[in-house]
Amino acid sequence: MRKLFVLSLLVSLPWVCLSQSFLSNKQIDSLISIMSPEEKAGQMTQIDLGVIAEGGICNLVQPQALNLEKLKTAIVKYHIGSILNVGCGSGTISMESWHKIINTIFEQNKKYSHLNIPIIYGIDAIHGANYTMGATLFPQQIGQAATWNPGLVKKMYQITAYETRASGIPWNFSPVLDLGRMPLWSRFFETFGEDVYLAKQMSKVAIQGIQNNGISGPNQVAACMKHFLGYSMPLSGKDRTPAWISDRELREYFLPTFREAINQGAKTVMVNSGEINGTPVHINYDILTTLLRDELGFKGVAVTDWEDVYKLVNVHRVASSKKEAVKMAIMAGVDMSMTPNDFEFTELLVELIKEGSIPMSRIDASVRRILVLKNEMGLFQFKKITKDIYPLFGSKEHAQKSYELAAESMTLLKNANKTLPINASNEKVLVCGPSANSMNLLNGAWTHTWQGVDSRFNTKGKFTIFEAMSLYNASNVSYALGSEIDSLKDIEACVQAAKLVDKIVVCLGETPCTEIPGNIDNLDLSVAQKTLVKRLKELNKPIVLVCCFNRPRLLNEIAGIVDAILYAYLPGDEGGRAISDCLFGVKNPSGKLPFTYPSSQNSFVHYDRKHSEDLDVDFSENAYKPQFDFGFGLSYTKFEFSDFSLSKDTLNNFDSLVLKVNVKNIGDRTGQEVVQLYYSDLVASITPSVKKLMAFSKISLQPNETKTIVFSVHKKDLSFVNKELQEVTEKGDFDLIINNQKKRIYVN
Ligand code: BGC
Repeated sequence: MRKLFVLSLLVSLPWVCLSQSFLSNKQIDSLISIMSPEEKAGQMTQIDLGVIAEGGICNLVQPQALNLEKLKTAIVKYHIGSILNVGCGSGTISMESWHKIINTIFEQNKKYSHLNIPIIYGIDAIHGANYTMGATLFPQQIGQAATWNPGLVKKMYQITAYETRASGIPWNFSPVLDLGRMPLWSRFFETFGEDVYLAKQMSKVAIQGIQNNGISGPNQVAACMKHFLGYSMPLSGKDRTPAWISDRELREYFLPTFREAINQGAKTVMVNSGEINGTPVHINYDILTTLLRDELGFKGVAVTDWEDVYKLVNVHRVASSKKEAVKMAIMAGVDMSMTPNDFEFTELLVELIKEGSIPMSRIDASVRRILVLKNEMGLFQFKKITKDIYPLFGSKEHAQKSYELAAESMTLLKNANKTLPINASNEKVLVCGPSANSMNLLNGAWTHTWQGVDSRFNTKGKFTIFEAMSLYNASNVSYALGSEIDSLKDIEACVQAAKLVDKIVVCLGETPCTEIPGNIDNLDLSVAQKTLVKRLKELNKPIVLVCCFNRPRLLNEIAGIVDAILYAYLPGDEGGRAISDCLFGVKNPSGKLPFTYPSSQNSFVHYDRKHSEDLDVDFSENAYKPQFDFGFGLSYTKFEFSDFSLSKDTLNNFDSLVLKVNVKNIGDRTGQEVVQLYYSDLVASITPSVKKLMAFSKISLQPNETKTIVFSVHKKDLSFVNKELQEVTEKGDFDLIINNQKKRIYVN
């Protein structure tokens, strides 16, 4: 009966030809007006691929394939609106397999669903389309930030969008906009680092690159801002444990990247799984509605994180039943629940709708946002996906961009006695350590599998550090493991091999991991890796460290005894080549740390929260003692800064001043430098930052070349969030600082 009724409505509605064109707002409203509670609740449900695939949840048949009966149930009985990822415990599949999955979902939906509302597929394409075989894998976000090159980062996101769409998937759960201010946190590498300004620039280009001015084209996907809000700062450093963040700090540090992304038109957001000041964000109306919708004007879809509605009962204990939890999350502002392994959410939501516990207006608002998203993605005009229009998927051109990004992220933290670069033709070198010959340790988590440790799926034809170095001069490059991540391995053989060479490259690493499996108790580097370095040091030969870490593991015991340190972050599939090229001097490192490198356990003062820089101030009052400063990174050449000038020394409302500085390459090779402009607010109503980044520019200089860099400074660039939670620039003196140059201005 109902089917007949729906059919007759369909015929009478203007959107009957919805497979032909985008829907108008009116058509979307008409559609909503004939949807049943079940269909609405279904739209608000997102399940994992595992629920509709062959095999059991977390024990799927490999490679994943759909189970048509399960899919039919999901469509007919639950009317599901969205599906995600590769299935718990599963890995990368080929582009063809993706096409089969996506095409089948659409065909079956068309066959069985009354309204034929398309199902939206979402995936974690975190550093490239990492769940599609052969896709281009880039450095993780922390390495992207270390390039200080937004143009290159934007290109990476464009390629990722292209390769994700090539797989048939229109929604990417990326980028992570959480600020990396807690080095212990297992997802530190997924952030753009600790600084608000740098992370904001990266967030901006990430959204621009992913969405590419739209979300329906063949190289456009919807971005998802993660994880709103305050997820990255758990007090314990452990994932999804409570955070205590004042409203002022939320706005000063954690909000700006999201605000920037919303201004760039980001279409979706994922909610923070944790709690802030005792309130789980999934039930926080102030954050999910008042701030996100009313203040920031976000109009897109808010999806929960993994199973987080249920966690309101069993982890946070703010709801006594799952039904109550569903109601709380929806009323706080959630549009879609990443349920993801069953349909209980859907059933409970239907009950709540039917008994009137959640107003229909609230449900319709979410359903409308979801339908608008699908419409904007072009899903109502879905055509069978084929490989043909994506000739550049996994291409050499894309790999080259990944290489450039990786190479520009390489951060030279020490280079005593010009140990680097190594002369490939004259010097014999031993490469050892856990990351010397591993693709997985270059890529980190979210690589073919969630935790990224399974090497079976690795892309063929990519080079580890050792392999890439051997390409130069195999007879001069030898390899010995020496140590795995946590235990020494063939150390004696390694020491013997080291006796035969001129220089030793020790490649340190960390097991790929993310989220709760990546929790650690402290930042110590393993005893085994430190022992390896110390044993090799006994040979009295130059030692170079290459660091491929998820987060800054402490180098305090070994930084002083080695000769050079190249910090490589998690540089991706082209990381081996990029590292090798920097070690051999084909590339001149130009990365700068996007975070303050701690020197000891708990030395967690960020560069912008240190107190006075005045040497008279007792160290205990300052407590800023990093291993390496934020923004630090050496080059094989040297730069000299001079002639810092300002167009005026007083800044009034709506004024701007022009600042100039000369930068000269005084070394003997071409190099890139990041010109970093900081300011210092001398006195303010809350303790001001002694140093805060406000602009930067990455330039390239030939030997002896000088460039004049120009920045313009506005009053609003010097603002902070005050006690009343307003962004203000207070009157008074400010210093503007570039490298060793400083000028004072007065702000009216
Ligand atoms: C993570 C998200 C991710 C989601 C889907 C969650 O556990 O926190 O960042 O997008 O899973 O895989």
